[in-house]
Amino acid sequence: MTPDLAGRGVVVTGAGRGIGEAYAKAFAAAGARVVVNDLDADAVTAVATSLGDDVFAVPGDASSEEGVAALVASARDHLGEIDVYCANAGVARGGTEAVAERAWDVSWNVNVMAHVRAAKLLVPEWVERGSGTFVATVSAAGLLSIPGAAPYAVTKHAAYAFAEWLSMTYGDKGVRVHAVCPQGVRTDMLRNSGTSGRALMEADAVDPDDVARDLFLAMEQERFLVLPHPEVAQMYAHRASDPDRWLTGMRRLAGGLPGSVLGAD
Ligand SMILES: NC(=O)c1ccc[n+]([C@@H]2O[C@H](COP(=O)([O-])OP(=O)(O)OC[C@H]3O[C@@H](n4cnc5c(N)ncnc54)[C@H](O)[C@@H]3O)[C@@H](O)[C@H]2O)c1
Repeated sequence: MTPDLAGRGVVVTGAGRGIGEAYAKAFAAAGARVVVNDLDADAVTAVATSLGDDVFAVPGDASSEEGVAALVASARDHLGEIDVYCANAGVARGGTEAVAERAWDVSWNVNVMAHVRAAKLLVPEWVERGSGTFVATVSAAGLLSIPGAAPYAVTKHAAYAFAEWLSMTYGDKGVRVHAVCPQGVRTDMLRNSGTSGRALMEADAVDPDDVARDLFLAMEQERFLVLPHPEVAQMYAHRASDPDRWLTGMRRLAGGLPGSVLGAD
């Protein structure tokens, strides 16, 4: 556990279920005051109620410019200062380059621009006071790609790139950044991924609480990259050191799958 979380102000987006709910539970248990957000108002209200008086539900869209502004304003009302912001909400859209424009739009907005828009509002204050933590829930797909899901693969790479960029730009000014990159995690996202998505991710899947535990360990050790599946580090190194061989393997994997894994629109 990270001892300095007592009384800290934390925001978790996409906290109505899954990994976001597990983060909220872990932060509340560590004594933080937590704003939980989700598009699903009923789910996030139930999470807040179950976690006690220091957890506040702020339902709404955590991706649009107006939605992020409303969330950050409301979180400041509840918490005073925001010390930790977990940009966790994500959407899993499968398909090829030919998937509908709306699948690309929602993927860019939720998986990438939500992070950019939150950072735009938070970083100036964090730099001024010399502290603040940005947690980006990315995916191993942001380091290794994923066949059958072009919008997910591409936007998760962008989310990882943005987290890295934040860290290289503001890391020496007191802003800590963590990029959380799991493979399969047993949540509704995985359960709703269709037969091929589940086949790809279910075997070595971990629980959402494992991801929260690994995030806390990385916060304690001030490590940027959080890998709930440690083997991802070797695969990432292999991709960089021998891209053609890596692509041959990925083609083999893709060849055994239909055109789309995950959901399509
Ligand atoms: N489950 C996995 O196998 C897995 C693996 C790697 C990375 N991830 C990433 O972890 C994060 C959380 O995933 P999960 O598995 O808990 O998913 P989930 O689908 O179980 O939960 C995601 C939550 O985000 C909410 N949400 C979606 N769009 C939103 C928006 N615009 N504003 C506010 N809330 C919104 C949904 O309503 C949902 O409650 C995502 O970024 C996902 O890409 C998941």
